[in-house]
Amino acid sequence: MRVITSKNELIVWRQGLLHQSSVGFVPTMGALHAGHLSLVSQALLDNDFVVSSIFVNPTQFDNSEDLAIYPRTLEADIALLETILHDRIIVFAPTAEDLYNGQPKSKSWDFGAIANVMEGEFRSGHFDGVGTVLQLLFELVNPTNSYFGEKDYQQLLIVKSLADQLGQSNEIIGRPIFREDSGLAMSSRNQRLSEVQKLQATLIYRVMNYIKDHISSVPWKDLKQWAENQFQEDKDWRLEYLTLADAQTLETRDVYAENLQQRVFIAAHLGSVRLIDNMAVN
Ligand code: PAJ
Repeated sequence: MRVITSKNELIVWRQGLLHQSSVGFVPTMGALHAGHLSLVSQALLDNDFVVSSIFVNPTQFDNSEDLAIYPRTLEADIALLETILHDRIIVFAPTAEDLYNGQPKSKSWDFGAIANVMEGEFRSGHFDGVGTVLQLLFELVNPTNSYFGEKDYQQLLIVKSLADQLGQSNEIIGRPIFREDSGLAMSSRNQRLSEVQKLQATLIYRVMNYIKDHISSVPWKDLKQWAENQFQEDKDWRLEYLTLADAQTLETRDVYAENLQQRVFIAAHLGSVRLIDNMAVN
């Protein structure tokens, strides 16, 4: 495995590849876990080389406190990737100044209606920051395929729109959510949860499963009320949104439709940690 920390070194590496070599790309913000590794493993199966970036992108945080406390564990991340033992993996861990060519700054993007709900509504400027850093990274890596988790389902749709707008031949591949045995979706932010909070946090999965099991027989309005009550009963929680939405357009739905692909989306704060998750309900 090779670790590259400068943009120029990555450009030289990319230019040195044979024209027909395929490159899989797995962008991350580090604090890696099995969910990230699953993306890297899939990328290794599909491509000749895999670039995994580790970069905590300042422009996608709407809150400087959240950026400051985001876990940064580069050495442990490199050690974890080394367990895959592959000389076809390149880790790219640039500085913000190098990647952004100076002061990090967001561009403004038009991703349409999918960017205005949920994460777009509650985290101002978030998707502009994601689009900006991914454009920089996509241009450097020039990937054949790029891998994203359904854990950030809305981001996955945004990235598909971004790739269309950029017009590169970069196939965006979505991969399933990796969970702890408890059902808690793996997330870098889980590092900030205590053991007790990790148990509490399984509420999100339990609620989504209950919704999935009952959505064809109980009206959504009643199920939503039931679910909101579950969060209200424990004062450690602050529910931000609980939405049933069309899986393609992310339009909010207030009735369940068996013949349409729908997903339930949740964002909630447990103490000071913000958690998101989602699940297909049909
Ligand atoms: P990060 O949160 O580090 O996630 C990197 C990738 O891992 C994303 O595609 C995310 O959806 C995926 N991922 C995270 N947890 C997962 C899980 N439990 N199962 C499967 N996949 C999971 O998402 C970002 O970073 C950033 O926004 C980024 C795209 C790197 C741009 O800065």
